[in-house]
Amino acid sequence: MDRLHITGGVSLEGEIRIAGAKNSALPVLAASLLTQEPLKVCNLPHLFDITTMLELLGCMGVQRIVDEKMNVQVDSSTIENLNAPYELVRTMRASILVLGPLLTRYGRAEVALPGGCAIGSRPVNQHIAALRTMGASIEVENGYIRAHADGKLKGKHIFMDLVTVTGTENVMMAATLAEGQTIIENAAREPEVIDLATCLNKMGADITGHGSDTIVVNGVDELHGCDFAVMPDRIETGTYLIAAAATRGRVKVKDTQPHTLDSVLSKLEQAGAVLRVGADWIELDMRGRRPRAVSLRTAPYPAFPTDMQAQFTALNAVAAGIGSITETVFENRFMHVHEMNRMGANIRVEGNTVMVEGVERLNGAPVMATDLRASASLIIAGLVSENETTVDRIYHIDRGYECIEEKLQSLGARISRIPVR
Ligand code: UD1
Repeated sequence: MDRLHITGGVSLEGEIRIAGAKNSALPVLAASLLTQEPLKVCNLPHLFDITTMLELLGCMGVQRIVDEKMNVQVDSSTIENLNAPYELVRTMRASILVLGPLLTRYGRAEVALPGGCAIGSRPVNQHIAALRTMGASIEVENGYIRAHADGKLKGKHIFMDLVTVTGTENVMMAATLAEGQTIIENAAREPEVIDLATCLNKMGADITGHGSDTIVVNGVDELHGCDFAVMPDRIETGTYLIAAAATRGRVKVKDTQPHTLDSVLSKLEQAGAVLRVGADWIELDMRGRRPRAVSLRTAPYPAFPTDMQAQFTALNAVAAGIGSITETVFENRFMHVHEMNRMGANIRVEGNTVMVEGVERLNGAPVMATDLRASASLIIAGLVSENETTVDRIYHIDRGYECIEEKLQSLGARISRIPVR
């Protein structure tokens, strides 16, 4: 298992390009199961989770052809089985995204039940309840979700009890080939849901209302292939901007979508960053100043994203003042706090809130990554530390950040990967 070694104390300076969005690419790849024709997906990020999704499709018999630019042509006409095995699902919960497409196109699916994970129990009951409402028989036994439908799924009026991103995506994909109209109320409004709907419409689906909390899908007989470029990763964008702010630097991120980051940019401005924004780029300049602590509360889009609170905790750890960060989406997403306190931070957990009192500087230490975004926050903490930090278990970071050490090196950071055998 590799480690990252960081020598802190450098203000990040320079320009980087943002990769395609993991959370858009995963459902778009799953959507390839909805058609006999090849789907060409472009702007895919180089990430473990993408490899896992391609492996999952591969073990069903789906053909994937990857070109040198990491564009992937996925052809599901060769599919042989309809199972998502536990070995793959346990490494990536988003494997559940194949359930809706398999069920609606083939009337059958067997998907291992994703277990708990470091950030909470994360059930998939909403996915299952909605698909049952559409006429599927679903049993959960021996750790597997076994689903089947007699004939086509039926379009229905579905009310999601809570806002779920992959739940909305699963039901939206299932509805594309269902009989009649499906209305999804309390739908997730995340930009990645819009991106998936845009791809599905390009494949011939009839979806409206995506981006609002009511999505309407009129079922069609079949979908066809298309070329689709996934949107830029807003979480990667935000992570580099926060790293720049925490290190008092100046960074331009290119090939991004600034409008998907409104809540994050507003917090960065409150922290004292000077921002310039173009059509597809954002430049952040701290003018060498120490950031000010900010307070925030996570919630579904367009509110502040849960995937970015840990990084702001790292910024607050060295900011002037006291900031509070409240997590409302997941139950256990503060694993990074104890590691940051080992680096000299002053952070207290009170229920689902952390109170962060900024200190002048952190001290590097060996720390352990526990989940994807927590890992990113520990890297930021390492970058603002006085001396050396090693971050262990970085397979988490490789799931969601493309070439992170190379991108940070290009911004001047002293960071390297140490292979551990
Ligand atoms: C997606 C993102 C993840 C992000 C999260 C919240 C992908 C691949 N992952 O995860 O990066 O952190 O959205 O923005 O897009 N819940 C239930 N029952 C369900 C489904 C969800 O109780 O059937 C709960 C979850 O436990 C959680 C909340 O709903 O507390 C939101 O989860 P959800 O939006 O489903 O997260 P994911 O789609 O798994």
